[in-house]
Amino acid sequence: MVVEKNVPLQPLNTFHIVARARRLVRIASRDDVLALLADPELAAAPTFILGGGSNVVLTGDVDPVVLKVEVMGRSVLARTPKVVIVEAGAGENWHDFVAWTLAQGLFGLENLALIPGTVGASPVQNIGAYGVELQDRFHSLDAIDLRTGQVFTLDAAQCAFGYRDSVFKHGGPASSLGLKDRALILRVRFALPTAWTPVLGYADLDKKQAEHGVTHPTAQQIFDWVCDIRRAKLPDPAHIGNAGSFFKNPTVTVEQCADIIARDPKVVHYRLDNGSIKLAAAWLIDACGWRGKSVGQAGVYEKQALVLVNRGSGHGGNGATGGEVMTLARAIQTSVYERFGLMLEMEPVVL
Ligand code: EPU
Repeated sequence: MVVEKNVPLQPLNTFHIVARARRLVRIASRDDVLALLADPELAAAPTFILGGGSNVVLTGDVDPVVLKVEVMGRSVLARTPKVVIVEAGAGENWHDFVAWTLAQGLFGLENLALIPGTVGASPVQNIGAYGVELQDRFHSLDAIDLRTGQVFTLDAAQCAFGYRDSVFKHGGPASSLGLKDRALILRVRFALPTAWTPVLGYADLDKKQAEHGVTHPTAQQIFDWVCDIRRAKLPDPAHIGNAGSFFKNPTVTVEQCADIIARDPKVVHYRLDNGSIKLAAAWLIDACGWRGKSVGQAGVYEKQALVLVNRGSGHGGNGATGGEVMTLARAIQTSVYERFGLMLEMEPVVL
């Protein structure tokens, strides 16, 4: 095990915020975690698990020991009449893994193409896009307890998935509930259906289908359309630093929605199966006039108001600070609250 000191984190977070890890350890296997636990000083230190760095805002140098997950490998584990089980190491790039499943003739992840980040981060926030959430295709995962070194397996119910939520987002070392900072995901398994049917019905995808005049799209076509839609709407972190959607879409009751409609009848909302209503956070932010605005070098993306961007990344300078991003985020929360009576919840982890 090598403990790297004062490691620049700018290339390791998709916001490209400048910060350093005082100590960083690369985790390529269970043995690396066991080596860490065998070191009395490191074993006692708080840790922060870093995947692709696509859902984090760094507001300064990082004191906890950064565990950079680099567990690799992709394989087809089993074929049953109904599903094919595939497995990937937590350090694998998510999009490359999705493309690999399609190349194997395995379908079901195509709607989740081009989401930045790693396979290991995908269950943490139950990534979702264009009508599919990770939990719809999830089979199980192996994780390692960062206190005992014990490897354990969780199924979907044990992961307690919710909208951009799981057991890995809750708790902490001191809490008995939740696995945040307590367990590191090593491998994730997915159950891909052998009898594949496309998931359509999302406005942007329906538009693509009509444009191409296709009645029965293939998984590869959906993959290509999702990539096109995302490239047109969302900034590529390689060029403009960002962490995807910065806020969650809020869910409200019918009464709360009526109150918001009274404030602005144009509010974009969708009725969910459980009777509650989902509001488009992007629309609320846009309605408050934030699209295209900036605080220092942190800005609201011109084409999607839900995405905050680092306008200085890729220009040779230091770009936005985490403080600027958080100032902008709080100003947005305040104005949405004042206008619509709703507090938007942030999606990324703030460190
Ligand atoms: N809209 C605006 N102004 C804008 C952008 C959008 O008014 O600047 C309106 C649109 O007209 C649309 C509505 O807001 O009616 C929703 O926008 P969109 O379809 O772009 O999706 P979203 O709800 O903003 C969610 C996910 C994305 C995911 C897309 C597609 C969350 C927090 N975000 O965005 O996920 O790609 O749906 O499924 O649920 C991510 O989590 O990082 C992410 C990008």
